[in-house]
Amino acid sequence: MRVLVTGGAGFIGSHFVRQLVSGAYPSYKDAEILVLDALTYAGNLANLEPVVEDPRLRFVRGDICDQEVVTQAMYGIDLVVHFAAESHVDRSISRSSEFVRTNVLGTHVLLDAAVNAGVGKFVHVSTDEVYGSIASGSWREDSPLEPNSPYAASKASSDLLARAFHRTHGLPVCVTRCSNNYGPYQYPEKLIPFFVANLLEGKQVPLYGDGENRRDWLHVDDHCRGIALVAEKGRPGSVYNIGGGTELSNRDLTELVLKHLGLGWSRVEMVSDRKAHDRRYSVDISKIVDELGYRPMVAFEEALPETVDWYVHNRRWWEPLRRRWSDSYLPSAEAVARSAHDRFHGSSRH
Ligand code: NAD
Ligand code: DAU
Repeated sequence: MRVLVTGGAGFIGSHFVRQLVSGAYPSYKDAEILVLDALTYAGNLANLEPVVEDPRLRFVRGDICDQEVVTQAMYGIDLVVHFAAESHVDRSISRSSEFVRTNVLGTHVLLDAAVNAGVGKFVHVSTDEVYGSIASGSWREDSPLEPNSPYAASKASSDLLARAFHRTHGLPVCVTRCSNNYGPYQYPEKLIPFFVANLLEGKQVPLYGDGENRRDWLHVDDHCRGIALVAEKGRPGSVYNIGGGTELSNRDLTELVLKHLGLGWSRVEMVSDRKAHDRRYSVDISKIVDELGYRPMVAFEEALPETVDWYVHNRRWWEPLRRRWSDSYLPSAEAVARSAHDRFHGSSRH
């Protein structure tokens, strides 16, 4: 069994790879794993360091929009798990072209190559944001797609391409749509690591709007377990929502983080709202529960403090990322990623 993981040096992709290598998914315990990742500002080989020595793991630094690289990477692959994406909503508001390029065109290149290579299964990792905001109740897999940010629109577009490649070419694609993930190794631009890092550096945390926007927080391990189940048993052509975490307002989540760090509300700065800020996300997960036997297993009450503590104890992981922080890609970040790559398996082709 050969598994291609795109975006495997990012937050969720690297968790999936670490779990895969450690044997957490019994059906894939002997799998050979090829990670294809462009190492953008969000890709970080340090995320794979715990498994870097495993002989079953290989790494290719490459762009999913590059047809030649993707065709080569797809050779002999049985399963594709596609995480690679531009993933941050705020960045998509200030500059959306890279989101269309990677999320739409890149996914198309992968789907095309997967058809040509005859892969056995393709899991396209998507998001609950494709459904847009819901005031009450929860979106089902057949609910209309009403994305509101350029990020969400680019992911919805890629979901539709995945569907079309199943219908037109019979590619065995499944799409997963998950809620907000939390856990270690999340790039410190997303709410939890960003706020923790700011607080540890003595800064304020910027809470958008009235702070009453609501998100369903799912531990990254539960998300990845759901993806592995879909890879193994998901019906080709199907969409599966993944969620069932803990729904909280941003205000309440911020209070929990502050409390755990022994800090008060004075550290919060209410700032102007994100454009088109979705008020609430919620997905109905009964399909993956009933069909595949999925259930979230990580308790938020324990895992949120553990996650905050991970950032407290791993400043050496996030401090260099913060120093290179920018609203756009930084050449210096690219250079550091490249030198890290040279230390890791050497070759840029497999
Ligand atoms: P991330 O930003 O942490 O990682 C993205 C990875 O993709 C990075 O390693 C980056 O280098 C790589 N990448 C970006 N562009 C590339 C390209 N053109 N070619 C090859 N590699 C490229 O993202 P994440 O939070 O780990 O999200 C992974 C996937 O899960 C995304 O598809 C995202 O839409 C989806 N998702 C995320 C969440 C969440 O809460 N973070 C929730 C639901 C779904
Ligand atoms: O719902 C799944 C999505 O969750 C994924 O598809 C995205 O890739 C992922 O980034 C995440 O999107 P959000 O926009 O919900 O996550 P973010 O961490 O950026 O923001 C969470 C909430 O916190 C959101 O309502 C905006 C708010 N926020 C965020 C930041 C960064 C703030 O109030 N202040 C901030 O500084």
